[in-house]
Amino acid sequence: LAVMVRSALLNVMMGAARKAARSLVRDYGEIENLQVSRKGPSDFVSSADIKVEKTLRQELKKARPAYGFLMEEGGEIIGDDRSNRWIVDPIDGTTNFLHGIPNFCISIALEREGELIAGVIYQPLGDEMFHAEKGAGAFLNERRLRVSARRKLEDSVLATGIPFHGRGGHEPFLRELGAVMKNVAGVRRFGSAALDLAYVAAGRCDGYWEAGIKPWDIAAGIVLVREAGGYVTDYEGGNKLLETGEIIAGNDHLHQPLLRLIKSAHA
Ligand code: IPD
Ligand code: CA
Ligand code: CA
Ligand code: CA
Repeated sequence: LAVMVRSALLNVMMGAARKAARSLVRDYGEIENLQVSRKGPSDFVSSADIKVEKTLRQELKKARPAYGFLMEEGGEIIGDDRSNRWIVDPIDGTTNFLHGIPNFCISIALEREGELIAGVIYQPLGDEMFHAEKGAGAFLNERRLRVSARRKLEDSVLATGIPFHGRGGHEPFLRELGAVMKNVAGVRRFGSAALDLAYVAAGRCDGYWEAGIKPWDIAAGIVLVREAGGYVTDYEGGNKLLETGEIIAGNDHLHQPLLRLIKSAHA
């Protein structure tokens, strides 16, 4: 019988996510008691986001004291070890969370020497732990993941994100959506970029695209999709994902046609 031996690194990341998820699930049960403030016109942050981020920071720091951080709410913390940095989104899908829509997650990635090498995305309500480490494959709980095998855009279901009010980029998005929706079987807007990428890794969606996205939304998901055999690039087909905030993910058959479609519509 094959026993799966998971790396110490992934154990640290998954342990932190599970621990932080406890307060998250409790807070989800009484959303009306949370303090909510606005960072922008439709960009919300709650006391739950802050609490989760604090637990993650403590747990990760305990295990790897010298590593730096890039976190959505707390910003950047330079560590003594300049080559390792955690990229953390305490709640990806805050709008869902605050509306009682159960699609939200915790996302943690590790960047080493500028390269994304591990990712954990935990959806606590479904107890879905997505995890991947460079060279070791992608998993959902114990199950190995593989991107979908669909070959035709017309059969595919894609996820995307709609830029919220105040973020800009609405016109190019509408052009992209117009071009994509005429060519695919369906488009979904689930409300969590991290889970969108986890779904591509799991073969639930055949692809995903979004612009105006932040490093913490996508860092963990990028590792997952690549380790599940998929392709992830920016809108130029390059690897400047965290810098440009543009992302297209898909299986090996669909990534190129999708890239062509979105690139020409975006311009
Ligand atoms: C948001 C979600 C959403 C995406 C937004 C993000 P948040 O993250 O990932 O799907 O469309 O661009 O800001 O604010 O819930 O962490
Ligand atoms: Ca946010
Ligand atoms: Ca996010
Ligand atoms: Ca967030």
